[in-house]
Amino acid sequence: MSDYSPGLAGVPATRSKVSYLDGTKGVLEYRGIRLETLADRSNFIETAYLLLFGNLPTPTQLEKFDKDLRVHRRIKYRITDLIKCLPDNGHPMDALQAAVAALGMFYPDKNVQDEQTQYLSAVRLIAKIPTIVAAYARLRRGDDQIQPRDDLNYTENFLYMLTEKVPDKVMSEILDTCLILHAEHTMNASTFSGLVTASTLADPYTVVSSAVGTLKGPLHGGANEKVLTMLKEIGSIDRVRPYIEAKVKAKQRIMGLGHREYKVKDPRAIILQRLAKRLFEHYGKSPLYEVAVEVEKVGEEYLASKKVYANVDFYSGILYQKMGIETDFFTPIFAMARVVGWLAHWIEQVKDNHIFRPTEIYEGEHDRAYVPLSERKG
Ligand code: ACO
Repeated sequence: MSDYSPGLAGVPATRSKVSYLDGTKGVLEYRGIRLETLADRSNFIETAYLLLFGNLPTPTQLEKFDKDLRVHRRIKYRITDLIKCLPDNGHPMDALQAAVAALGMFYPDKNVQDEQTQYLSAVRLIAKIPTIVAAYARLRRGDDQIQPRDDLNYTENFLYMLTEKVPDKVMSEILDTCLILHAEHTMNASTFSGLVTASTLADPYTVVSSAVGTLKGPLHGGANEKVLTMLKEIGSIDRVRPYIEAKVKAKQRIMGLGHREYKVKDPRAIILQRLAKRLFEHYGKSPLYEVAVEVEKVGEEYLASKKVYANVDFYSGILYQKMGIETDFFTPIFAMARVVGWLAHWIEQVKDNHIFRPTEIYEGEHDRAYVPLSERKG
């Protein structure tokens, strides 16, 4: 009984070289490189290569990877048809999960331990997920799907497919950095979920669709959407303190605060706050930003003793809202980035695979009598 840890807190689930996190110092590294460095100097596609294959790409490797990703952006018309059939008031994460699972039927990769298969599946998933996300955003409101443009980079193309406009440099660079920040984060719930599925040697589309389902929850990736709902509900700075006090008194969670691993402010939240300021310099302020800053400040007064500080989801929604992205698409954008981490762990897992099969502590009864239906009361 003593070795049981609720939520497996502190229990290593695997050995990994993908990323490293020190929650007391607020350090996050991808393949040994500090997140801050990648956010300043890299781009999402280069970072994806680093995470998947362990090293920064050479110019030739990057050129090939980028070209392969552009080539594989299109989705089969049957996937578009499937998306068209989904309810227009459903959650985009459900649409993404269904479409990703369906992709696996078109690409039945046989040997998941083969490196070429892994490369091609990773390329397909990273390239097609933005197309699926943008397609659902448009199709659910009755607009046509916009086909990807190969002359645009990954982030420009996503915003173009979503809005029919090629974004300016500032906006696409900021979103690209957001994607770097969300690409990987050690053994979080969705990565663990993907890893368990990977350990059965299921195909990568099934692995990613498991992870998408897990990311959706409000205690994980879904928190970014809830943060914006909360900030809108609070509405103004003077209403922050009574809101936080009521939440703390009722022992309710304040969305976007707290993290299992970080005992300081999440380094990703620090970078996102910087990006938010850059975005507002170009496109004007967001009134919700001031409310968020106050929530963080008052939240700290009450929760710093429990080491609860702003996490990655706290500022991301404000940025995405300013970019004109609908609230329920915040988590799918998270998934667009995190698919890289899921796939990096998938590749690592299948290289030296052991199926996940933990035990449990049984707390039920034994040797109960079977009472015939006619003799059961009630
Ligand atoms: N608001 C208020 N109190 C909180 C919060 C919060 N957001 N987070 C933790 N606490 C308090 C808990 O009530 C608990 O207090 P207690 O010891 O008096 O009971 C203490 O801090 C420890 O909380 P735990 O639930 O044990 O922490 P855990 O590591 O299990 O939870 C979690 C982490 C789920 C992220 C939690 O902080 C939370 O629910 N946050 C809000 C949802 C959120 O923002 N999720 C996104 C996380 S980032 C990501 O997944 C991408």
